[in-house]
Amino acid sequence: MDPRDLLARFHMPQLSSFQALDNYSTPVLGASALFCTIIAYTIAKMFGYGSRKNEFEVDGKTVVITGGSDGMGKAVALQLSAKGANVVVVARTVSKLQNAVEEMKASAVNSSKQKFHYISADLTDPAECERVIAEVTLWNSGAPPDVVWCCAGFSRPGFFVDVPIKEHRQQMDTLYWTAANTAHATLRSWLTPVSPNEQVKTPRRHLIFTCSTLAFVPIAGYSPYSPAKAAIRSLSDTLSQEIEMYNGAYSQRHSTNAPAADVKIHTIFPMGILSPGFDNEQKIKPELTKQLEEADKPQTPSDVAKISISALERGEYLITTMFIGHILKGTALGPSPRNSIIGDTLLSWLSNLVFLQVIPDLRGKAFKWGKKNGLPTPNPAS
Ligand SMILES: *[C@@H]1O[C@H](CO)[C@@H](O)[C@H](O)[C@H]1NC(C)=O
Repeated sequence: MDPRDLLARFHMPQLSSFQALDNYSTPVLGASALFCTIIAYTIAKMFGYGSRKNEFEVDGKTVVITGGSDGMGKAVALQLSAKGANVVVVARTVSKLQNAVEEMKASAVNSSKQKFHYISADLTDPAECERVIAEVTLWNSGAPPDVVWCCAGFSRPGFFVDVPIKEHRQQMDTLYWTAANTAHATLRSWLTPVSPNEQVKTPRRHLIFTCSTLAFVPIAGYSPYSPAKAAIRSLSDTLSQEIEMYNGAYSQRHSTNAPAADVKIHTIFPMGILSPGFDNEQKIKPELTKQLEEADKPQTPSDVAKISISALERGEYLITTMFIGHILKGTALGPSPRNSIIGDTLLSWLSNLVFLQVIPDLRGKAFKWGKKNGLPTPNPAS
C-alpha cells in the first residue's frame, strides 16, 4: 500500500519533508506533542536525580583529537582543555595545529598543570596512526591516552555520476579509513594483555567516532559522503559488541590476563556544522541538495562540541545534537544499543510514523526537480 494512503486514512496531512516538522496540522501536532511529552518526561526522570555520576570525567586525563586543528575537532579540544584535560591535536597543517595549541593553553583550567601537544600526520596511512599513538604514549610518560576522539574528515557533495570515481574513493579514505586506522592503532594499544600482578588501577577509556545523521537518512547529493559515514556507524556498532569481550576479561583481571582498563565506544551524529569546510561545501553543493536539507539549521562547532560532551557525560552511546537529529536517529535505530529503552523506543515509533511520509516526499521533490529543471549542470569543481 502507498504510505500516502495509509497516512490519509489516519487523517495525516501531506508533510513536506523535514520542514513538515514545523507545519503539522492539529491531529499530528497533538500526537507529536504527546509523544514528545512522554519522551521529555522519561528523559527528565532518568536525568533528574541531581547526583548523577559523570561518565566522562576528563580532568587530568590525556585526550587525542584527530582533525583537532579546525571546526568541531578544535571546539572539542578547547572545551576539554577547559575541563582540565591534557590534549594532543592531530591534523596535517602545522600552522593550524600550533594555533590550536595556543588557544588550548588560553582556555586551560591550570596551564601549569595541563600539557598540550600537536602531531602532524596523514591518518589515511595506518602506519601514521600507529606513530601517533606511540608518540602520544611516550609524551604521556609511557601511558596510552585515556580518550581518543576521531573528528577528521570533510564532505565533498555532488551527484553520484558527476563526481569522479576517484573522489568517491577519497571520501572513503578521509572519512572511514582515517577513523578505522585510528581506532585500530588505539585499540591495539589499549587491549594489550596485562598479567594480574602488573595490573594498576586505570580509569575507563573512551573511543569516540564522529559520524553524521546522513548515516541514518539519505539525502540526494551526498553519495560520496554518506556511505563512508554509514560504514563508521557499522564499525561502531560492531566494536561496541566486540569490546564487551575485552571488558568481560577485564572484570576478571585479578585472576587472568586482561586489558589494563575498561573501554567504551561512542559515536556522535551532528548535522550541518558552520566551519570553513562547510563554506567550501556550500559552494559545490547541488541546488536540489540544499533544498532537501532546508530544515537542517547548521550549528556552531562549539554548540556541537558542548552538546556532545554533555551526552558523553551522561554515558550515551549514539549521540545526536539537535531535535531533527534525534528524529533521524529514531527512524534508523535498528539493532544499535539504546541510550534509554523507553525514550529511544517512543522516539523510534514517532520517527517511523513521520518517515512514512518524509522519504516519499524527498523522492517526490527530486523527481519534480528533474521534471522542472532537466539534467543538473555539473558543478565547476567536478
Ligand atoms: C596549578 O597546578 C600547579 C601544579 O600542579 C599547582 O601548584 C597550582 O596550585 C595550580 N593552580 C591552581 C590555581 O589550581
